[in-house]
This record gives sequence, C-alpha cells and structure tokens, in this order.
Amino acid sequence: MPRIKSSHLLVAESGADREGHGLKRTMGLFQLICFGVGAIVGTGIFVGLSDSVAQAGPAVVVSFVLAAITCVFTALSFAELGGAIPVSGSSYSFAYAGLGESTAFLVGWCLLLEYGISISAVAVGWSQYVNELLHSLTGTQLPTALSAGPGDGGFVNLPAVIVIAMASVLLVRGVRESARATTVMAAVKLAILIAFCAIGYSAFKHGNLTPFSPAGLGGIGAGTTAAFFSYIGFDAITTAGEEAKNPRRDIPIAILVCMGLVTLLYCAVAVAAIGAIGGDQVGGRPAALSYVVNEVTGSTIGGGVIAFGAVVAIASVVLAVMYGQTRILMSMSRDGLVPRVFEKVSPRTATPVSGTLIVAVVFALPAAFASLDSVVNLSTIGTLAVMAVVNIAVIALRRREPGLARSFRVPLYPVGPLLGVAFCLYLMYETGWNTWIQFAVFLVAGSLVYVGYGRRHSTLAQDAAEVTPDATDAVRQAV
Ligand code: ALA
Repeated sequence: MPRIKSSHLLVAESGADREGHGLKRTMGLFQLICFGVGAIVGTGIFVGLSDSVAQAGPAVVVSFVLAAITCVFTALSFAELGGAIPVSGSSYSFAYAGLGESTAFLVGWCLLLEYGISISAVAVGWSQYVNELLHSLTGTQLPTALSAGPGDGGFVNLPAVIVIAMASVLLVRGVRESARATTVMAAVKLAILIAFCAIGYSAFKHGNLTPFSPAGLGGIGAGTTAAFFSYIGFDAITTAGEEAKNPRRDIPIAILVCMGLVTLLYCAVAVAAIGAIGGDQVGGRPAALSYVVNEVTGSTIGGGVIAFGAVVAIASVVLAVMYGQTRILMSMSRDGLVPRVFEKVSPRTATPVSGTLIVAVVFALPAAFASLDSVVNLSTIGTLAVMAVVNIAVIALRRREPGLARSFRVPLYPVGPLLGVAFCLYLMYETGWNTWIQFAVFLVAGSLVYVGYGRRHSTLAQDAAEVTPDATDAVRQAV
C-alpha cells in the first residue's frame, strides 16, 4: 500500500504558509512570469527549430500548436496543483500527495531527466551559438574537438561546461540576484526574437510556405515531439512556491500567461524563418536563426546580434532549470529520499550551496560528452512521463482531498487531465525505441535506489514508526 503525504502536511513542513522559513519570499507575479519565460525559451527555438522544420516543413506551426496543447492540458493540472500545494517540489510533491511515496520518488527521479539532463541539453545547444557569435566577431570558431562531445564528432564540449559553471555561481550567490538576472535575460530574449520576426517578415514570400506539409501527418507527429523540447520548463514556476510572495494566486496565472506568450512567439518565429528563406534552407541547419538573418540582410552583423541574443537566452534557461533541479532535490532530501546534503541552506546566502554545486558537476558530464540528440530525447521522454503523472495526480488528489482549498480548478474535469495523459503518451511513443530502452534502464536504476536508500531513510516512514499523534495524522494508508 502506498505511503501518502497529505497536502496539508506538505505545506506545513515546507513553511510555505509562514514567514521565516529557510528561503526568502522575493518573487512577485511579474518576476514569476519572467522566470517562466526564462525557463522555457532557449535551445528549443534557437537550435531545435531546425530539427522540427526538417521533420514537418512549414507544418511545424501545427507541431508547435500540438506540443503546446499537450503542455496546456498539463499546465492546467500544474496550475491546480501549484495553487493548492505551494511548495518547492513541483510534480514530485504533487505525486507525494496524490499517488504516494514510491510514485513520488520515481517522479523525482524522472525530474533528473526533465531538469538535470535538460541542463546538459540546453548547455550543448548554447555552444552552437557561442561558436556562431565567435565567427561573426572574429571570423574564426572553436575547433569541433573542443566544442562538441564525441557523439557530435568532437571530443569535449567546453562551452557547455562553462555555462553550467557560470549558472551555478549565480545561483549560489542568491535567488534575489538570480531572479533579477533572469528578468533581464527574459527581456533580452523576447526582444531578440521579436527583432528576428521583423527581419524575417520583411523578406516574407508566400510561396515558401508550400508545400505546407511535405512529410504528411507522420512528419507533423515527429515534428511535434521535436518541438516539445522547446516548451520544457514551464512547470519550473511551480518550483518557486516557497519563494513566491503570493503563490496561491500568482503561480497559476504565471503558468498560463507564459504558455500563451511563448506559443505565439514560437509560431511567429517559425513562420518568419520559413517565409523568409524556405523550409529546406532552415531544416537541419546549425544556428539556423542567425543563418536566416544573414541571408535576409546580406551581412553577418545581424546574425551576430541574433547569436548574442541566443547566447544570453540559452544561458538564462540553464540558470532557471538548474534552480528548479536544486529545489526539487531539496524537497526530496527533506523527505529523506535522497541524502541530506541537498537540503542544507547556507545561512549566509540563503541558498542550497552544496546541492547546487553537486548538480553542476553531475550534469556537466553529459554536457561535455553526450550528443545533442541523445540528451534532448532523454529529457523529452522523462518530462512527458512526469507530465502524465501530474495529470493523474490531479484526479487522485480530487478524490483523496476533495475539500482542499484550490485557487484554480482544471476546466472540463476529468476530461482535461485524461486528454493530457493521452497527448503525453502519444509523444512518448514518438521518441523511438532507442530512447525507450534508455528510459527503461533509467527507471530500473531509480527503483533500485528507492528500495536501497529512499524507502529506508524516508522521514514519513520514520514518523509513522514513532506513532505520535502527528505522525498518525500524517501517514494515511490508501485503500
Ligand atoms: N525549453 C527549454 C529550451 O528550449 C528547455 O531550451
């Protein structure tokens, strides 16, 4: 029978409803929205767009909309859960309340793919635009041996390691500064992408949008899975539950505003790029947005500016995603499911210094040596699995705690969350067998860690063993 933790206990333990807990409440609605944009817009649009276009052609806009619909169903579920349980653990905490400890552990484990491996993937994408920027500034580039892992024809991806190191220094220095830096970066990336659209539309030719769907429905499906990566990170907003000033109201609003903004932006960028030079030219091209601008303006200056924007934009994603990963590990550590080192908050900086440094070192390794495709696919399947569980957790929590105060309720319940699950499963299917095999091995490893460590060190189980009145209240065995 699963060990369930009540939503009331989760919030009380985290201190999310009182002042004076370990983390400072510094983030208002505007900062949360910037934080969301910072977490979402990055490698996916600047680098991954060319892969999605290679699969779907101009119909990539349909792929973006389908990927967004998948995320919106889940974002609504996140909004309900985030508004009801404003703690730092994100989907992990929601699964603990809705589905029990072992599922929560596996969700937390999959978040190592969604957040941790996407730190690596985003950093690898960053490296492409660093090289493009170097090229437009100096006319030369870093050698492939030092700017790509063995899977992409190089030896070690040094820029990817450097961006992870820089993000960890910012995060260690404190959320106030990091959030401010993220706000500036979010503004820069919006400005750069809007400028890109203006340049692209100035050279727009209708003929470039035909044939609209050269690879048919199959191409659109594959394009949707590729496009999905560009939406990963929207739920990072829920990991800021303990640092938001008014989490119950602001977190649901911030998630929905972010998703709407980002979807509009992605479709506009895709149409601008393809309309300007044609899908064949965009598909599969490294640093594609810089290429489009160079072609349209006939000079490398515009492409250099875009490359600069991409370097800033993608760096901010590393920052936001790494922030999310450290907060999730903090929640799991409080619950005894991972070692205590991850929950230690430095009194000087009010940040989890050791946890941040461990995350940086561990995920710098795939960034240095893995191929972009492999880390993107692994991150995608892990994220989709987590999202499916979040949709299920909404249903489970409605049944388990019907009286819980919810500042936002999923519309069309239970059809919305069920459709969310169906979309996630379809996109997981599209990732292909190689990714499935890696994912299965990863899940088996996670189950072993839970049985060997987490289950035995769980604070919930220890509280229950002490049989205090509080503990009996805390632990409820599901029927
Ligand atoms: N959505 C994030 C990106 O595109 C992971 O970089």
